[in-house]
Amino acid sequence: MQSLNKFNHNTKIIGVIGHPIKHSFSPLIHNLSFELSGLNYIYLPFDVPSTNLKDALKGMIALGIKGFNVTIPHKEKILSYLKEVSEEANIIGAVNTIVNEDGTLHGYNTDVNGVVESLLPFKDELANCEATVIGAGGASRSVIYALIRTFKVGKINIVNRTEQTAETLKEYFKTKMIFEHIKSFPLVPPDLVNVFSQSKLIVNTTSMGMSPEIDDAATTIPESFNKDQIVFDVVYNPIKTKLLALAETRGARTVSGLKMLIEQGAKSYELWTGEKMPVEKVYKAVVSYLNS
Ligand code: ATR
Repeated sequence: MQSLNKFNHNTKIIGVIGHPIKHSFSPLIHNLSFELSGLNYIYLPFDVPSTNLKDALKGMIALGIKGFNVTIPHKEKILSYLKEVSEEANIIGAVNTIVNEDGTLHGYNTDVNGVVESLLPFKDELANCEATVIGAGGASRSVIYALIRTFKVGKINIVNRTEQTAETLKEYFKTKMIFEHIKSFPLVPPDLVNVFSQSKLIVNTTSMGMSPEIDDAATTIPESFNKDQIVFDVVYNPIKTKLLALAETRGARTVSGLKMLIEQGAKSYELWTGEKMPVEKVYKAVVSYLNS
């Protein structure tokens, strides 16, 4: 009976809006955290097609919904409906978290926090280094922003299947963040061996290697890893992607996308509740879920 009384007039609602609203770990991460922290909150998925996006935000204010995560395809478009957008979300051009502050919606990009927390142990090494980022979509923009702003890398290579997208992104960051040392390359593995082998950091921001297509990235990216490198894969399912496994066999240090997933969630959680997420317990729960 206790659980039936759990949600009441004091319950604060958080949601994720997207379309289609695919299977996501966010409800698991946040509802578990609310439970562990004894907070009277609930996290729910809402399937919102683009034509309803504006009304969904009005509805959020009308119903007093405390916050949203924003996912595909609304992350970029939602910026035009928000008056208050944080600096990082503005530069990246994408919002993944909204906080409703007494009827005013504030947009943030906490993916950046996920990237920063994931790479923080390597901060000293990354200063002035050369970094290669595979992919030129939303995740890539969060990574590039963090590499320039927080890690102060010296040089960035953007590698992408569609060369023009990488070129456009390169020009964007050159101008927007006044970062000169950025180059773009098409994803043609034989031509990239030098670029990869001279990079201190390699980040895969594409969905290559994600379950069930687990062989994708490992067969598309040059195998030129070495023991001085750090390899970060934003893919979190499987936790150890083939790319990370391969990098490990060459002695490189690796970072799984699961850390980024949980840390971006932790920042959103803090923005909504003002409390720290119990990240260690959540991490263990998600690992056991993924391994089950
Ligand atoms: P996200 O917001 O998750 O970054 P996105 O904006 O759709 O998603 O970007 C996906 C990125 O992964 C793109 O850089 C895409 O390359 P293209 O610009 O050529 O489309 C890249 N990508 C996705 N699937 C890929 C694959 N199978 N091989 C190579 N690159 C892939």
